Amino acid sequence: MTKFTITPWEVKGNIDYDKVIREFGVSKIDENLLKKLEKHTKKLHPFLKRNIFFAHRDLEFALQEHEKGNLFMYTGCGPSGPIHMGHYMVWSFTKWLQEALDVELWFQFTDDEKFLFKDMSYEEIQKWLYENMLDIIAIGFDPKKTHFLIDTKHASLLYPEAVKVAKKLTFSTVKGAFGFTNETNVGSIFYTAMQAAPCFLPSVIKGKKMACLIPHAIDQDPHFRVTRDVIPKLGFYKPASIQCRFLPGLGGISEDGKLSSSTGQAIYLTDDEKTVKNKINKYAFSGGQTTIEEHRKHGGNPDVDVSYQWLTFFEEDDKKLEKIYHDYKSGKLLSGELKMILIEKLNALLKDHQKKREKAKSMVDKYIYHG
Ligand code: TRP
Repeated sequence: MTKFTITPWEVKGNIDYDKVIREFGVSKIDENLLKKLEKHTKKLHPFLKRNIFFAHRDLEFALQEHEKGNLFMYTGCGPSGPIHMGHYMVWSFTKWLQEALDVELWFQFTDDEKFLFKDMSYEEIQKWLYENMLDIIAIGFDPKKTHFLIDTKHASLLYPEAVKVAKKLTFSTVKGAFGFTNETNVGSIFYTAMQAAPCFLPSVIKGKKMACLIPHAIDQDPHFRVTRDVIPKLGFYKPASIQCRFLPGLGGISEDGKLSSSTGQAIYLTDDEKTVKNKINKYAFSGGQTTIEEHRKHGGNPDVDVSYQWLTFFEEDDKKLEKIYHDYKSGKLLSGELKMILIEKLNALLKDHQKKREKAKSMVDKYIYHG
């Protein structure tokens, strides 16, 4: 029996993704749907071919509306700490999808959410808001087509829409979806209405009913499940979504399903080369044998080896990845060597990112929505 928990506030355990599909009531992304998607995107991102984006709601509907030029995308970031590779993977895919579909992207920063849910001061959250915006800009979104919405700064735009959602949402519904109790602060109880607002705010701004597609990690689904029940009552389409698995924690897939900042084992986008090397060497769970002789004889197990699992997220070249898989399994490639491949891959990626992050400092205002 596998035991796991997935809520927007907590992810733990060994996640059985087939069970997630059944329990959340989302749909699997199958070959047929991938073919349809490819007609719109021309190519398929490795995350699609590798089943990392594995589930969806109403993706076909979103594609139909895309055909008519009636689709926008929406995603978000809750600023409460440094950005790690688990965030990076979702947003690098989001950038690819936005470019491939050539649509606008609305990016929500939920500084209110993190203030309400975390034991952090308002000022601390504002610091992370700025830091996180730099990372997101550095990912390379087109500033002409990407609009940042900051919950507390764009309150005059978001709040009128959020209250319309809140009026149709009962305490009993959010209690059921999120497990709130009588001790939960009232801000947290209201919060889902804020995350729902960007699903239709662009329709309000443009004065036409548009479809919304949300790329997100599966833990955010409860917000949108609730949203989907409410916003048709306001005269808008249910948001569609495309949902991904979690990047496994460095400590091993079975202990920690999601890369969590709190375990101290995350790789941050601001980590330097040495830090990355040390973290991988120290923490990345190995599927190798205990001695070199044993390893050469029996080979390693790439299916539980975290360095290999991470390469399935960050090595785009299918052939290279396949070779690594077989070399590791046969014992030709040692655990230390496999870790080195990952370290070099991440460091190259982060070096480039950090350069762009410096440049992002003069670009923040271009991304913030000015209406
Ligand atoms: N709640 C998300 C978080 O904690 C932030 C968020 C807001 C979001 N809107 C979103 C994430 C839309 C994905 C899609 O990080």
